[in-house]
Amino acid sequence: MIPGLVNSFLNSGGRMGQRIAILTGGGDAPGLNAAIRAIGRRALAAGDTLFGIRNGWAGMIGDGDVMTLERSRLSGILQLGGTMLGSSRVNPMKLEHGIEEVLRNIDRLKLDALVAIGGDDTLSVAARLAEHRARVVGVPKTMDNDLSITEYCIGFDSAVSVVTEALDRLHTTATSHHRVMVCEVMGRDTGWVAVMGGLAGGADMIIIPEFSVTVDEVVAHLEVRRKAGSDFSILVVAEGVEMDGLQSKNEAEGARDAFGHVQLSRRGVGENLARIIEERTGHETRATVLGHVQRGGSPTAYDRIWATRVGAKAYDLVVEGLFGEMPVVTNGTVDVASIADVVAEQRRVPRELYELAQVFY
Ligand code: F6P
Repeated sequence: MIPGLVNSFLNSGGRMGQRIAILTGGGDAPGLNAAIRAIGRRALAAGDTLFGIRNGWAGMIGDGDVMTLERSRLSGILQLGGTMLGSSRVNPMKLEHGIEEVLRNIDRLKLDALVAIGGDDTLSVAARLAEHRARVVGVPKTMDNDLSITEYCIGFDSAVSVVTEALDRLHTTATSHHRVMVCEVMGRDTGWVAVMGGLAGGADMIIIPEFSVTVDEVVAHLEVRRKAGSDFSILVVAEGVEMDGLQSKNEAEGARDAFGHVQLSRRGVGENLARIIEERTGHETRATVLGHVQRGGSPTAYDRIWATRVGAKAYDLVVEGLFGEMPVVTNGTVDVASIADVVAEQRRVPRELYELAQVFY
């Protein structure tokens, strides 16, 4: 064996020359490229052949959409947001014979392993493929941070940083104009981004799907603050919140993505809440919808480091032949869990964290 390859061979746990593919599915998030780089660099160092599947599961449907990834393509991507592979919300489980097509493409490409980086939708497909004995490994990614078992999901920390900076900026303009500012953040079913961003940015009220509040309670809280001498307020509201008295204007239109989710940004929760607050309190109120700004731009150092760690671990799982499994972070270390268990339920914001935020209202 060539001396330089001996180390790679040992690092790879003894398997060399495997054919490994990576895909990124669902909403993009900063840190995806760091994970691709980690998996890819480990694989190439071990003498494997590396493929990138374009645009998530869409690239495994029909004739497939695949590129070969050489070492040069993995350079200069650590600090880049988005995903060099592209993404989509195409769901093979919703397509007739979709799962069969993915399995056929795995065979056709003679893949020894497929690493799927994504949130619950993307990983649910991976779990289904694993039931068919496909050689898949997962990697946790969602800026919503709501996968169960794992404490870390790629993209969450970067999103929280964006929200924090936005709240800092909203504070200076809110105090100048003595206004109420409603900041709508992402969070389909859970309020992780709202709570963590709100804690870091000193929000005066945080409204999330896990703990319901009424419009009356919001108005009452704002009045208490005014009476106590605070002539401005910053509210953070998660886009997925349901509130009595807050009729979402576009809900009935029902725009949905390929996984069947309502496009929450069209519900106008932040705008609606701001309008009602102004009507009910008489205080000038403005809404800011952070939207996809939360998913754009460079990953934070934390996201780069942990995306690298879970990516490298995913490669270990491939080498060890632990298919149907994925890296998770528990108690600050990288651990392993079955993909099916990770997608079995959503991790919701615990009351303790929500109540901690309330201390500072
Ligand atoms: O799934 C993550 C997420 O960012 C949600 O918080 C948000 O509702 C959704 O994606 C937006 O999806 P899209 O980019 O498809 O509009």
